[in-house]
Order: sequence, then structure tokens, then C-alpha cells
Amino acid sequence: MQVFREKDALKQAIRKVKSEGKTLGLVPTMGALHEGHISLVRNALIETDQVVVSIFVNPTQFDNSDDLEKYPRTPEKDLALLEAETKDLWVFLPSASELYGNEVLSEKFDFEGLEQVMEGKFRNGHFDGVGTVVKRLFETVRPDKAFFGEKDYQQLQIIRKLTRLKELNVEIIGCPILREESGLARSSRNERLSSENRKEAAFIYHTLLKARELFGTKSVKEITDWVKKSFDKHPTLELEYFEIADSETLKKTEHKIKGNQYRAFIAAYIEGIRLIDNIALDN
Ligand code: PAF
Repeated sequence: MQVFREKDALKQAIRKVKSEGKTLGLVPTMGALHEGHISLVRNALIETDQVVVSIFVNPTQFDNSDDLEKYPRTPEKDLALLEAETKDLWVFLPSASELYGNEVLSEKFDFEGLEQVMEGKFRNGHFDGVGTVVKRLFETVRPDKAFFGEKDYQQLQIIRKLTRLKELNVEIIGCPILREESGLARSSRNERLSSENRKEAAFIYHTLLKARELFGTKSVKEITDWVKKSFDKHPTLELEYFEIADSETLKKTEHKIKGNQYRAFIAAYIEGIRLIDNIALDN
């Protein structure tokens, strides 16, 4: 497995691979890798000839310095996990100055409203940071395909929009959410939970499952009220938002329209740790 810390060395290796007519896959990550990331890597290995995994905790997408500071960083463990998967991977592990130069700042994007709802409403500037780093990674690696998890569904839609708006010529592949046995969506943040609360946090997924069931017979308002009441009865978890939104536009739904695709989204805190999850709804 090759580890690149400098853009120029990686670009040189990429030029060689491209000149041989091989396809390139990129799996962007912020490290603290788990089975969810590994499933993205496995998809990338199936679909492309050479896979690059980037590991970079991107400062510009954190609106809270405490969250950035506490974000788990486990580079040695990450490299061992990737190496155990296959020695053919390339890992890009840049420093902030290597990726950003002297000014670690976000570009400003207009994602046509996708950035203004849910995560965008609660995490100021988050998607400008994500857009900035993903664009830089795409410009460095020039992948044919890039792989992202559906757990961050809003991010996935925004990256699709980014590639269209900036004509980045990368196919974006969304991959299904991987869950722990309890149902809790796999996330690097789960590492920070006590074992007790890790079990408790599965309540988020079970609430989404119930919301999906109710979607067949109840109105959006009735489901939203039910979710809020359920969280009120569950003192360890604090609901930040529950939304049912159009899967494409992410616009909040008041009334379902037959034939449209919808998803339910939750953000909640447990032990001061913010978790998100979502589920596709049948309509
Ligand atoms: O989903 C993530 O881990 C990050 O937001 C990403 C896409 C790697 C950008 O930093």
C-alpha cells in the first residue's frame, strides 16, 4: 500500500495510471475508519482499477472548534485497516497546508437551496467547507468515480450538485448505510459514545423505521408530532430535527404527492455527541 502526503507525488503516480488507460476511484474520508468506510472502499475496488482513499480531517467544515478538536484521529489504525483490505490501495494523507496552502478558508457555494436546510441550517458554513475540500480532492485526484455513504445523504446530494455546477466530470456513487447490530448507523463519532449510550442511540434508527411504517397511513404532521413526543420520553437523547423531505430537492414536505420520493432525516444529541441518520420512505 502506498501512502502519499504530497499532492505532486500523488499526481505523478495518477498520470502514470491514467496513461495506461486505467480508471481511478476516490473514497474521501476524515479517517477514524470503520466498516462503513471499508464498504465504500470495497465498492470502489469493484468499480475502478486504482483506488485512492483520502484521509483528512477538514477544518473548514466544522462550525464548532470543540467538535473539530474532539474529532477522532487514528491514522495508524486507519492505515492498518486499509492495508488488511488490500495492499493495492493508495492513501492520500495531506496536511492542511498541503491541501489549502497558507489560508485554510472555505470557498462560497450556491447549491441552489440544498445547503440551506437541515444540516445547513444547524451547522453554519458546513457545506461550503465540504464543497471546498471535495473540489480540491477531485482536482488533485481527477477520479472517474467517487464514493460517498448515504448516511450523509444531504452531503451526497450537494456533492452531486457540485460536480454538475462546476463541471467536474466525476461520477458520484452513493453507497448504502452500514449499521451496527443494534441498528445504529456506523459513524466515526460512535467511538466517542459509552457502551451504554451506544446501545441507547439505536433509538434513532428504530424511530426512523417506525416513521417509515407510519408514512403509509399518517400525515407528515402526525408523524413529526409522534417523533417529537417519542424523543421527549427518551431523556438521554435530544432531538435537533426530524424532517421528511423530497429525496431530490431536500425540500421539507408538508403533504406527500403520489409518485414523489421522500426520505426521513434525524439529527440528535446523546452525551453531547451529534448523530445523524436517514431512511428512504415508500410512497
Ligand atoms: O463525509 C465525510 O467524511 C466528509 O464530509 C468528507 C466528504 C470526507 C469531506 O471532508
